[in-house]
Amino acid sequence: MSFFEHLGMAPSDPILGLTLAFAADERRDKVNLGAGVYKTADLKPYILTSVKEAERVLLKEETSKDYLPMAGDGDFIEQTKKLVLGEFTDDRIFAIQSIGGTGALKVGGELLLKSGCKRIFLSDPTWDNHRRIFTQMGFEVETYPYYDWKECRFDFEAMYHAIEKMHEGDVIILQTCCHNPTGLNPTYEQWKELCALIKKRRLIPFFDNAYQGFGESIEKDVAPIRLFVKEGLEVLIAASYSKNFGLYAERTGVLFTVCQDGKVAKRVGSQIKKCVRGIYSTPPCHGARIVATVLKDPKLRKLWEAELATMRCRIEETRNAFLTALKAKGLQKFEFLEKQRGMFSYTGLKQHEVDKLIAEYAIYMPGDGRVNVAGLNSENLDYVVDAIYETTKIL
Ligand code: LMR
Repeated sequence: MSFFEHLGMAPSDPILGLTLAFAADERRDKVNLGAGVYKTADLKPYILTSVKEAERVLLKEETSKDYLPMAGDGDFIEQTKKLVLGEFTDDRIFAIQSIGGTGALKVGGELLLKSGCKRIFLSDPTWDNHRRIFTQMGFEVETYPYYDWKECRFDFEAMYHAIEKMHEGDVIILQTCCHNPTGLNPTYEQWKELCALIKKRRLIPFFDNAYQGFGESIEKDVAPIRLFVKEGLEVLIAASYSKNFGLYAERTGVLFTVCQDGKVAKRVGSQIKKCVRGIYSTPPCHGARIVATVLKDPKLRKLWEAELATMRCRIEETRNAFLTALKAKGLQKFEFLEKQRGMFSYTGLKQHEVDKLIAEYAIYMPGDGRVNVAGLNSENLDYVVDAIYETTKIL
Protein backbone atom coordinates (compact mmCIF):
# COMPACT_ATOMS: atom_id res chain seq x y z
CA MET A 1 0.00 0.00 0.00
CA SER A 2 1.33 3.47 -0.91
CA PHE A 3 2.42 5.95 1.72
CA PHE A 4 0.31 8.44 -0.20
CA GLU A 5 -2.86 6.31 -0.33
CA HIS A 6 -4.85 8.75 1.81
CA LEU A 7 -4.16 11.72 -0.46
CA GLY A 8 -7.11 12.65 -2.62
CA MET A 9 -6.97 14.30 -6.03
CA ALA A 10 -6.42 18.06 -5.79
CA PRO A 11 -8.80 20.10 -7.97
CA SER A 12 -7.48 21.47 -11.24
CA ASP A 13 -6.26 25.08 -10.95
CA PRO A 14 -9.10 27.44 -11.99
CA ILE A 15 -6.73 29.58 -14.08
CA LEU A 16 -3.68 27.53 -15.09
CA GLY A 17 -5.86 24.42 -15.49
CA LEU A 18 -7.67 26.25 -18.31
CA THR A 19 -4.44 26.47 -20.32
CA LEU A 20 -4.13 22.67 -20.21
CA ALA A 21 -7.81 22.11 -21.03
CA PHE A 22 -7.55 24.56 -23.93
CA ALA A 23 -4.48 22.80 -25.33
CA ALA A 24 -6.29 19.46 -25.19
CA ASP A 25 -9.40 20.80 -26.95
CA GLU A 26 -9.43 19.76 -30.63
CA ARG A 27 -12.15 22.12 -31.83
CA ARG A 28 -10.90 24.46 -34.56
CA ASP A 29 -12.69 27.61 -33.40
CA LYS A 30 -11.39 27.43 -29.83
CA VAL A 31 -10.50 30.70 -28.07
CA ASN A 32 -8.33 31.07 -24.99
CA LEU A 33 -9.41 33.97 -22.76
CA GLY A 34 -8.05 32.30 -19.61
CA ALA A 35 -4.64 32.89 -18.01
CA GLY A 36 -3.38 36.46 -18.04
CA VAL A 37 -0.71 36.10 -20.69
CA TYR A 38 -0.24 38.72 -23.40
CA LYS A 39 -0.70 37.67 -27.02
CA THR A 40 0.04 39.60 -30.22
CA ALA A 41 -2.73 40.56 -32.66
CA ASP A 42 -2.30 37.17 -34.35
CA LEU A 43 -2.55 35.51 -30.94
CA LYS A 44 1.09 34.45 -30.78
CA PRO A 45 3.24 34.58 -27.60
CA TYR A 46 5.32 37.76 -27.49
CA ILE A 47 9.01 37.80 -26.68
CA LEU A 48 9.93 41.48 -26.47
CA THR A 49 12.71 42.62 -28.83
CA SER A 50 14.35 44.43 -25.90
CA VAL A 51 14.44 41.09 -24.06
CA LYS A 52 15.95 39.29 -27.07
CA GLU A 53 18.56 42.05 -27.42
CA ALA A 54 19.47 41.76 -23.75
CA GLU A 55 19.81 37.99 -24.14
CA ARG A 56 22.24 38.57 -27.03
CA VAL A 57 24.29 40.86 -24.80
CA LEU A 58 24.27 38.28 -22.01
CA LEU A 59 25.28 35.47 -24.35
CA LYS A 60 28.36 37.50 -25.31
CA GLU A 61 29.23 39.11 -22.02
CA GLU A 62 28.03 36.91 -19.18
CA THR A 63 31.03 35.37 -17.46
CA SER A 64 29.56 33.34 -14.64
CA LYS A 65 26.66 31.14 -13.65
CA ASP A 66 27.86 30.96 -10.04
CA TYR A 67 25.19 31.15 -7.34
CA LEU A 68 23.71 34.60 -6.92
CA PRO A 69 23.72 36.00 -3.37
CA MET A 70 20.59 35.10 -1.40
CA ALA A 71 19.24 38.62 -2.04
CA GLY A 72 19.72 38.20 -5.79
CA ASP A 73 21.40 40.17 -8.55
CA GLY A 74 22.55 43.56 -7.23
CA ASP A 75 22.04 45.55 -10.46
CA PHE A 76 18.60 44.03 -10.88
CA ILE A 77 17.59 45.01 -7.36
CA GLU A 78 18.88 48.58 -7.78
CA GLN A 79 17.06 49.03 -11.09
CA THR A 80 13.82 47.60 -9.69
CA LYS A 81 14.01 49.90 -6.68
CA LYS A 82 14.14 52.90 -9.01
CA LEU A 83 11.35 51.55 -11.20
CA VAL A 84 8.97 50.89 -8.32
CA LEU A 85 9.97 53.37 -5.64
CA GLY A 86 11.52 56.20 -7.68
CA GLU A 87 13.21 58.67 -5.36
CA PHE A 88 12.79 56.47 -2.27
CA THR A 89 16.05 54.58 -2.03
CA ASP A 90 16.97 55.01 1.65
CA ASP A 91 17.99 52.34 4.14
CA ARG A 92 14.37 51.78 5.32
CA ILE A 93 14.06 49.55 2.27
CA PHE A 94 15.14 45.95 2.05
CA ALA A 95 14.65 44.32 -1.36
CA ILE A 96 15.20 40.72 -2.38
CA GLN A 97 14.86 38.98 -5.74
CA SER A 98 11.91 36.60 -5.79
CA ILE A 99 10.54 33.71 -7.81
CA GLY A 100 8.01 35.85 -9.67
CA GLY A 101 5.26 37.78 -7.92
CA THR A 102 3.90 34.62 -6.30
CA GLY A 103 7.30 33.94 -4.71
CA ALA A 104 7.38 37.48 -3.34
CA LEU A 105 3.90 37.05 -1.82
CA LYS A 106 4.95 33.74 -0.27
CA VAL A 107 8.22 35.02 1.23
CA GLY A 108 6.53 38.22 2.41
CA GLY A 109 3.89 36.03 4.04
CA GLU A 110 6.61 34.05 5.83
CA LEU A 111 8.03 37.28 7.25
CA LEU A 112 4.58 38.39 8.41
CA LEU A 113 3.96 35.04 10.11
CA LYS A 114 7.30 35.28 11.84
CA SER A 115 6.37 38.75 13.08
CA GLY A 116 3.19 37.38 14.63
CA CYS A 117 0.63 38.43 12.00
CA LYS A 118 -2.28 36.05 11.75
CA ARG A 119 -5.03 37.68 9.75
CA ILE A 120 -4.85 38.74 6.15
CA PHE A 121 -7.54 40.54 4.16
CA LEU A 122 -8.05 40.11 0.42
CA SER A 123 -10.32 42.13 -1.82
CA ASP A 124 -13.55 40.43 -2.83
CA PRO A 125 -13.03 39.40 -5.59
CA THR A 126 -9.31 38.94 -6.08
CA TRP A 127 -6.78 36.86 -8.04
CA ASP A 128 -7.66 33.29 -7.23
CA ASN A 129 -4.12 32.39 -6.14
CA HIS A 130 -4.03 35.00 -3.34
CA ARG A 131 -6.32 32.87 -1.24
CA ARG A 132 -4.34 29.70 -1.93
CA ILE A 133 -0.95 31.25 -1.11
CA PHE A 134 -2.01 32.62 2.27
CA THR A 135 -4.36 29.80 3.29
CA GLN A 136 -1.64 27.23 2.61
CA MET A 137 0.65 29.17 4.95
CA GLY A 138 -1.86 29.05 7.79
CA PHE A 139 -3.15 32.65 7.77
CA GLU A 140 -6.72 33.37 8.71
CA VAL A 141 -7.80 34.66 5.32
CA GLU A 142 -10.70 37.13 5.21
CA THR A 143 -12.04 39.49 2.58
CA TYR A 144 -13.03 43.13 2.32
CA PRO A 145 -15.71 44.29 -0.15
CA TYR A 146 -14.28 45.80 -3.31
CA TYR A 147 -16.76 45.40 -6.12
CA ASP A 148 -20.41 46.32 -6.38
CA TRP A 149 -21.81 43.51 -8.54
CA LYS A 150 -25.14 45.26 -9.01
CA GLU A 151 -23.71 48.52 -10.29
CA CYS A 152 -20.56 46.90 -11.76
CA ARG A 153 -18.24 49.46 -10.15
CA PHE A 154 -15.48 49.75 -7.58
CA ASP A 155 -17.12 50.16 -4.16
CA PHE A 156 -14.92 52.62 -2.30
CA GLU A 157 -17.37 53.25 0.54
CA ALA A 158 -17.75 49.55 1.37
CA MET A 159 -13.98 49.01 1.26
CA TYR A 160 -13.36 52.02 3.51
CA HIS A 161 -15.93 50.91 6.09
CA ALA A 162 -14.51 47.40 6.15
CA ILE A 163 -11.00 48.74 6.80
CA GLU A 164 -12.37 50.80 9.69
CA LYS A 165 -13.22 47.51 11.39
CA MET A 166 -9.85 45.81 10.92
CA HIS A 167 -7.49 45.38 13.86
CA GLU A 168 -3.95 46.59 14.52
CA GLY A 169 -1.47 44.18 12.90
CA ASP A 170 -3.94 42.86 10.30
CA VAL A 171 -2.47 42.59 6.83
CA ILE A 172 -4.31 44.02 3.84
CA ILE A 173 -3.47 42.96 0.29
CA LEU A 174 -3.82 45.85 -2.16
CA GLN A 175 -3.38 45.71 -5.91
CA THR A 176 -1.53 48.74 -7.21
CA CYS A 177 -3.12 48.95 -10.66
CA CYS A 178 -5.12 46.85 -13.17
CA HIS A 179 -6.86 45.01 -10.35
CA ASN A 180 -7.15 41.30 -11.10
CA PRO A 181 -9.93 40.39 -11.92
CA THR A 182 -12.07 43.57 -11.97
CA GLY A 183 -9.78 45.99 -13.84
CA LEU A 184 -10.91 48.72 -11.40
CA ASN A 185 -8.77 50.62 -8.89
CA PRO A 186 -9.23 53.52 -6.49
CA THR A 187 -8.51 57.02 -7.81
CA TYR A 188 -5.42 58.75 -6.40
CA GLU A 189 -7.66 60.81 -4.11
CA GLN A 190 -9.25 57.59 -2.81
CA TRP A 191 -5.80 56.05 -2.31
CA LYS A 192 -4.94 59.06 -0.13
CA GLU A 193 -7.96 58.38 2.07
CA LEU A 194 -7.17 54.67 2.25
CA CYS A 195 -3.55 55.42 3.14
CA ALA A 196 -4.55 57.72 6.01
CA LEU A 197 -7.02 55.14 7.32
CA ILE A 198 -4.61 52.20 7.04
CA LYS A 199 -1.97 54.26 8.87
CA LYS A 200 -4.43 55.24 11.60
CA ARG A 201 -5.60 51.66 12.11
CA ARG A 202 -1.98 50.43 12.15
CA LEU A 203 -2.53 47.80 9.48
CA ILE A 204 0.20 46.33 7.30
CA PRO A 205 -0.35 47.08 3.62
CA PHE A 206 1.04 44.46 1.23
CA PHE A 207 0.98 45.68 -2.38
CA ASP A 208 0.75 43.23 -5.25
CA ASN A 209 2.35 45.09 -8.17
CA ALA A 210 1.91 42.65 -11.03
CA TYR A 211 0.88 44.94 -13.89
CA GLN A 212 3.06 48.06 -13.67
CA GLY A 213 2.82 49.82 -17.02
CA PHE A 214 -0.40 48.15 -18.14
CA GLY A 215 -2.71 50.71 -16.54
CA GLU A 216 -1.83 54.30 -17.39
CA SER A 217 1.98 54.48 -17.43
CA ILE A 218 5.04 53.03 -15.70
CA GLU A 219 5.17 55.96 -13.27
CA LYS A 220 1.47 56.59 -12.63
CA ASP A 221 0.73 52.93 -11.97
CA VAL A 222 2.95 52.86 -8.87
CA ALA A 223 1.80 56.20 -7.45
CA PRO A 224 -0.17 54.46 -4.62
CA ILE A 225 2.95 52.62 -3.44
CA ARG A 226 5.04 55.79 -3.40
CA LEU A 227 2.27 57.58 -1.52
CA PHE A 228 2.25 54.97 1.26
CA VAL A 229 6.06 55.04 1.50
CA LYS A 230 6.10 58.85 1.60
CA GLU A 231 3.54 58.80 4.40
CA GLY A 232 5.94 56.70 6.47
CA LEU A 233 3.98 53.43 6.63
CA GLU A 234 5.74 50.09 6.85
CA VAL A 235 4.86 48.44 3.57
CA LEU A 236 5.48 45.17 1.75
CA ILE A 237 5.52 45.06 -2.05
CA ALA A 238 5.51 42.07 -4.38
CA ALA A 239 6.71 43.20 -7.81
CA SER A 240 6.60 41.00 -10.89
CA TYR A 241 8.21 41.21 -14.34
CA SER A 242 6.03 38.44 -15.76
CA LYS A 243 3.68 40.79 -17.58
CA ASN A 244 5.56 44.03 -18.26
CA PHE A 245 8.68 42.24 -19.58
CA GLY A 246 6.78 39.15 -20.76
CA LEU A 247 9.12 37.06 -18.59
CA TYR A 248 6.36 34.70 -17.43
CA ALA A 249 8.47 31.56 -17.48
CA GLU A 250 11.61 33.20 -16.06
CA ARG A 251 9.89 33.78 -12.70
CA THR A 252 11.41 37.20 -12.13
CA GLY A 253 10.23 39.41 -9.28
CA VAL A 254 11.19 41.35 -6.17
CA LEU A 255 9.92 41.50 -2.61
CA PHE A 256 10.34 44.89 -0.94
CA THR A 257 9.95 45.49 2.76
CA VAL A 258 9.87 49.17 3.65
CA CYS A 259 10.49 49.41 7.40
CA GLN A 260 10.33 52.07 10.05
CA ASP A 261 14.09 52.66 9.94
CA GLY A 262 17.36 51.22 8.67
CA LYS A 263 18.02 49.16 11.81
CA VAL A 264 14.71 47.32 11.53
CA ALA A 265 15.22 46.86 7.77
CA LYS A 266 18.57 45.16 8.44
CA ARG A 267 17.07 42.66 10.86
CA VAL A 268 14.10 42.06 8.58
CA GLY A 269 16.47 41.47 5.67
CA SER A 270 18.46 38.90 7.64
CA GLN A 271 15.24 37.01 8.49
CA ILE A 272 14.05 37.05 4.89
CA LYS A 273 17.39 35.73 3.65
CA LYS A 274 17.27 32.95 6.23
CA CYS A 275 13.78 32.10 5.04
CA VAL A 276 14.66 31.88 1.33
CA ARG A 277 17.78 29.83 2.10
CA GLY A 278 15.42 27.26 3.56
CA ILE A 279 13.05 27.26 0.58
CA TYR A 280 15.02 27.64 -2.67
CA SER A 281 18.41 28.82 -1.38
CA THR A 282 19.24 31.45 -4.00
CA PRO A 283 17.28 32.86 -6.95
CA PRO A 284 17.80 32.12 -10.67
CA CYS A 285 19.84 34.67 -12.62
CA HIS A 286 18.62 34.74 -16.23
CA GLY A 287 15.43 36.81 -15.92
CA ALA A 288 17.04 39.22 -13.46
CA ARG A 289 20.02 39.82 -15.74
CA ILE A 290 17.72 40.45 -18.71
CA VAL A 291 15.80 43.10 -16.75
CA ALA A 292 18.97 44.74 -15.41
CA THR A 293 20.56 44.81 -18.88
CA VAL A 294 17.47 46.45 -20.40
CA LEU A 295 16.89 49.00 -17.64
CA LYS A 296 20.56 50.06 -17.44
CA ASP A 297 20.97 50.65 -21.18
CA PRO A 298 19.18 53.85 -22.32
CA LYS A 299 18.55 52.49 -25.82
CA LEU A 300 17.14 49.17 -24.63
CA ARG A 301 15.11 50.87 -21.97
CA LYS A 302 13.53 53.17 -24.53
CA LEU A 303 12.72 50.17 -26.68
CA TRP A 304 11.18 48.31 -23.71
CA GLU A 305 9.03 51.32 -22.79
CA ALA A 306 7.77 51.48 -26.38
CA GLU A 307 7.03 47.76 -26.41
CA LEU A 308 5.17 48.01 -23.12
CA ALA A 309 3.13 50.91 -24.52
CA THR A 310 2.32 48.77 -27.58
CA MET A 311 0.99 45.98 -25.33
CA ARG A 312 -1.04 48.45 -23.29
CA CYS A 313 -2.52 50.07 -26.41
CA ARG A 314 -3.41 46.78 -28.11
CA ILE A 315 -5.27 45.72 -24.97
CA GLU A 316 -7.14 49.02 -24.75
CA GLU A 317 -8.05 48.98 -28.44
CA THR A 318 -9.21 45.38 -28.20
CA ARG A 319 -11.33 46.12 -25.13
CA ASN A 320 -12.96 48.99 -27.05
CA ALA A 321 -13.58 46.76 -30.06
CA PHE A 322 -15.05 44.09 -27.75
CA LEU A 323 -17.40 46.60 -26.17
CA THR A 324 -18.41 48.07 -29.54
CA ALA A 325 -19.19 44.59 -30.87
CA LEU A 326 -21.23 43.70 -27.76
CA LYS A 327 -23.22 46.91 -28.11
CA ALA A 328 -23.76 46.34 -31.82
CA LYS A 329 -25.32 43.03 -30.88
CA GLY A 330 -27.69 44.84 -28.53
CA LEU A 331 -25.80 43.87 -25.36
CA GLN A 332 -25.85 47.32 -23.77
CA LYS A 333 -25.49 45.87 -20.28
CA PHE A 334 -21.71 45.49 -20.82
CA GLU A 335 -21.22 49.28 -20.95
CA PHE A 336 -19.28 49.14 -17.66
CA LEU A 337 -16.33 47.40 -19.38
CA GLU A 338 -15.24 50.81 -20.60
CA LYS A 339 -13.99 51.82 -17.17
CA GLN A 340 -11.80 48.75 -16.73
CA ARG A 341 -8.02 48.86 -17.20
CA GLY A 342 -5.32 46.26 -17.71
CA MET A 343 -5.34 42.80 -19.16
CA PHE A 344 -8.77 41.75 -17.96
CA SER A 345 -12.38 42.54 -18.63
CA TYR A 346 -14.61 41.43 -15.79
CA THR A 347 -17.76 40.62 -17.71
CA GLY A 348 -20.08 39.50 -14.94
CA LEU A 349 -20.81 36.27 -16.85
CA LYS A 350 -22.06 33.63 -14.42
CA GLN A 351 -20.44 30.25 -13.81
CA HIS A 352 -23.19 28.40 -15.74
CA GLU A 353 -22.75 30.78 -18.68
CA VAL A 354 -18.99 30.25 -18.65
CA ASP A 355 -19.56 26.48 -18.52
CA LYS A 356 -21.76 26.77 -21.59
CA LEU A 357 -19.22 28.93 -23.44
CA ILE A 358 -16.57 26.29 -22.83
CA ALA A 359 -18.76 23.27 -23.55
CA GLU A 360 -20.58 24.57 -26.62
CA TYR A 361 -18.19 27.12 -28.14
CA ALA A 362 -14.72 26.17 -26.86
CA ILE A 363 -14.31 29.67 -25.44
CA TYR A 364 -12.19 29.35 -22.30
CA MET A 365 -12.24 31.74 -19.34
CA PRO A 366 -12.25 31.36 -15.53
CA GLY A 367 -15.58 30.67 -13.84
CA ASP A 368 -15.94 34.27 -12.62
CA GLY A 369 -16.31 35.52 -16.19
CA ARG A 370 -12.92 37.26 -16.33
CA VAL A 371 -11.78 37.67 -19.93
CA ASN A 372 -8.13 38.03 -20.94
CA VAL A 373 -8.63 40.75 -23.52
CA ALA A 374 -5.29 39.90 -25.17
CA GLY A 375 -6.82 36.57 -26.24
CA LEU A 376 -9.19 38.42 -28.58
CA ASN A 377 -8.41 39.65 -32.09
CA SER A 378 -10.25 40.82 -35.19
CA GLU A 379 -10.70 37.21 -36.30
CA ASN A 380 -12.31 35.71 -33.21
CA LEU A 381 -14.10 38.77 -31.81
CA ASP A 382 -17.43 38.27 -33.61
CA TYR A 383 -17.42 34.57 -32.79
CA VAL A 384 -16.94 35.34 -29.08
CA VAL A 385 -19.54 38.12 -29.04
CA ASP A 386 -22.10 35.93 -30.88
CA ALA A 387 -21.46 33.14 -28.38
CA ILE A 388 -21.92 35.53 -25.44
CA TYR A 389 -25.14 36.74 -27.03
CA GLU A 390 -26.48 33.21 -27.49
CA THR A 391 -25.41 32.23 -23.98
CA THR A 392 -26.86 35.21 -22.14
CA LYS A 393 -30.01 35.97 -24.16
CA ILE A 394 -33.24 35.53 -22.26
CA LEU A 395 -35.58 33.34 -24.27
C1 LMR B 1 -3.72 35.24 -14.14
O1 LMR B 1 -4.32 35.78 -13.21
O2 LMR B 1 -4.30 34.71 -15.09
C2 LMR B 1 -2.22 35.23 -14.16
O3 LMR B 1 -1.72 35.98 -13.12
C3 LMR B 1 -1.67 33.86 -14.25
C4 LMR B 1 -1.78 33.10 -12.94
O4 LMR B 1 -0.73 32.69 -12.44
O5 LMR B 1 -2.87 32.91 -12.44
